[in-house]
Amino acid sequence: MTQGSLRHFLDLSEFQGPTLRSILDAGKAIKTRRRTPAAKQDRVLDGKAVVLIFEQPSLRTRMSFEVGIRDLGGESIMVTGKEIELGEREAIKDTARVMSRYADAIMIRMLDHAKLVEFAKWAEVPVINGLTKTSHPCQVMADVMTFEERKGPITGRTVAWTGDSNNVLASWVHASARLDFNLRIATPPELAPKPELIAWAKKEGASVETTSDPFAAVDGADAVVTDAWVSMGDGEKERRHNLLQPYQVNAKLLKAAHRDAIFLHCLPAHRNEEVTDEVIDSPQSAVLDEAENRLHAQKGVLAWCFDAIRA
Ligand code: CP
Repeated sequence: MTQGSLRHFLDLSEFQGPTLRSILDAGKAIKTRRRTPAAKQDRVLDGKAVVLIFEQPSLRTRMSFEVGIRDLGGESIMVTGKEIELGEREAIKDTARVMSRYADAIMIRMLDHAKLVEFAKWAEVPVINGLTKTSHPCQVMADVMTFEERKGPITGRTVAWTGDSNNVLASWVHASARLDFNLRIATPPELAPKPELIAWAKKEGASVETTSDPFAAVDGADAVVTDAWVSMGDGEKERRHNLLQPYQVNAKLLKAAHRDAIFLHCLPAHRNEEVTDEVIDSPQSAVLDEAENRLHAQKGVLAWCFDAIRA
């Protein structure tokens, strides 16, 4: 989302397909140049400081942003939501404007998406969504990069989601509309995606189908994707587990996909709940590449935020 001359990265739905493509291409090019003399040209954050705010725990998001910012020549400063009591100690608009005087960009992980949008409204530097309860756009940029490394261009291909309809799924829906691939979603009816999300996808002309049958969703798909049954901020653990058991990605379900299908999971995984050991440790599993690609895809995002994409 551009706000004046500011470039925020809040949701994939706010982008046109060619912009997302240029960010992915930039991330891939930077990945290729990493640890070679050519990487010098990628020091687009030279002299810049990026604040990373975490209200929730993180391994991948924190590490990939910290290392990525360092690789691009910048410095990161990590603060927890507890330290700054975001939205409690002072108005979000004051925190956003004060932080903008110190930092050149701000990445935020917080559950309340409306507060992220409020923060970005007042920030005077680019703001990046590092996960909210509503969406996880950096994750899905890495997922698409991983798909394309293993399977070629994602346009026209079929991705199947089975399990809970959470924030990662929402970003997959946004991506399917912008990058023109088919998305089949299998969830229990009780945990179906929000009607407004699916209505948005249809309005945008996306090829998104919903079902309660995981085998129908996965049939012949190029990728099978799932996530934890209980995401950050969710309650009703036992009820969710009971509802989601039939949506587990196990060898039988994966076999219903294309024989060369890949398995994706943003991690952390709950082994033998949403995915079996047999699947996550199989050659079809791309989860470690997917975690690594957070680093590379986010470098593309950071380069875009500073209008410094050099593919
Ligand atoms: N996938 C993901 O966002 O991982 P973390 O919660 O460890 O950052």
